[in-house]
Amino acid sequence: MKTLAELGDLRGKRVLVRSDLNVPLDGQTITDDGRIRASLPTIQQLSEAGARVVVCAHLGRPKGAPDPQYSLAPVAARLGELLGAEVAFASDTVGESARLTVEGLQDGGVALLENLRFNPGETSKDEGERGAFADELAGLADAYVSDGFGVVHRAQASVYDIATRLPAAMGGLVQAEVDVLQRLTSDPERPYAVVLGGAKVSDKLGVIDNLLGTADRLLIGGGMVFTFLKAQGHEVGKSLLEEDQLDTVTEYLERAQRDGVEIVLPTDVVAATAFSADADHEVVAADAIPADRMGLDIGPESSRLFADKLADCRTVFWNGPMGAFEMAPYAAGTEAVGRALVEATKGGALTVVGGGDSAAAVRQLGFADSDFGHISTGGGASLEYLEGKELPGLSVFDEQEG
Ligand code: 3PG
Repeated sequence: MKTLAELGDLRGKRVLVRSDLNVPLDGQTITDDGRIRASLPTIQQLSEAGARVVVCAHLGRPKGAPDPQYSLAPVAARLGELLGAEVAFASDTVGESARLTVEGLQDGGVALLENLRFNPGETSKDEGERGAFADELAGLADAYVSDGFGVVHRAQASVYDIATRLPAAMGGLVQAEVDVLQRLTSDPERPYAVVLGGAKVSDKLGVIDNLLGTADRLLIGGGMVFTFLKAQGHEVGKSLLEEDQLDTVTEYLERAQRDGVEIVLPTDVVAATAFSADADHEVVAADAIPADRMGLDIGPESSRLFADKLADCRTVFWNGPMGAFEMAPYAAGTEAVGRALVEATKGGALTVVGGGDSAAAVRQLGFADSDFGHISTGGGASLEYLEGKELPGLSVFDEQEG
């Protein structure tokens, strides 16, 4: 892996930095600026080295054309506030505004380009189209720094193709993330537990498959747990259920038992009559969910059980909320897992919160970043790393060296 230092003296050089600034927005308001904060050290380091820093990033999933609701303008403003310096904002990605903005940068100055995904070349499956966009991006800079860990699993122009066109290095954030994930995958201190939540089990199949070979305990909550409960023969009422995954989940349960991996499921759930904070809700046993109710959080007994199962762990990875935590009546399970991780951290365990949504959840529930060993900026990226998949934004650096 090439580090920033290997790019040599950057004074006066134009350095294109790919960051992941894909933050949640409520209209124009950024509701969690964790990813912007995480991008600061590399930007500051380059600026202090006298580079002309051209930050590029995406927001949301626009369809390859400008779409004001996905503009990075609010992010430029927040980046400037956090840096305590002006951030010049280009209203396009590789057009006239970008060219003039980069030309206007002084040594140490910072600019942000408009959303990369306003250009169809960024995410194109066609190598030629992607390459042409990467060429245009490369024309704006003398060197490239990959610092958007949350996108390293994407083979996109600003993540993959660009690294073959300019002298390129990995930024400190990508290196820090990879270091932590390496500790989880190669010889983690045991017991090693993974807590998985979120809506769909189909999003987590690869990672469960892989974890059955590495983790000691798998604690499962969130919407995905009802497919597990159903696979165990329980009725789940109106809860989320992926019928087409029942066979796979049954196979996981059998494999776990055979290989001595403990799968911990909730014993009680908060069951509501509708997906609403105002809906009538009660705690019921996980094997007795009434037909007219849906499970929206793990129950208090399960919260204690999960905390207990995490108490002696030396390594914990957590991805995905335990329930619909955005609504107060269904936040307790996610909060309890957060608290259990905080306790484990105090006891010296390596605790890692993976993912954009999970990271936003712990901050929304009032936890501080420093309460955990590491809060990853990558949701999909950290899961794919744990799956053992090759991540294009990382492997492109090995290809360069090889
Ligand atoms: C994320 O939010 O996980 C990253 O920014 C990647 O976004 P994407 O899933 O739209 O590629």
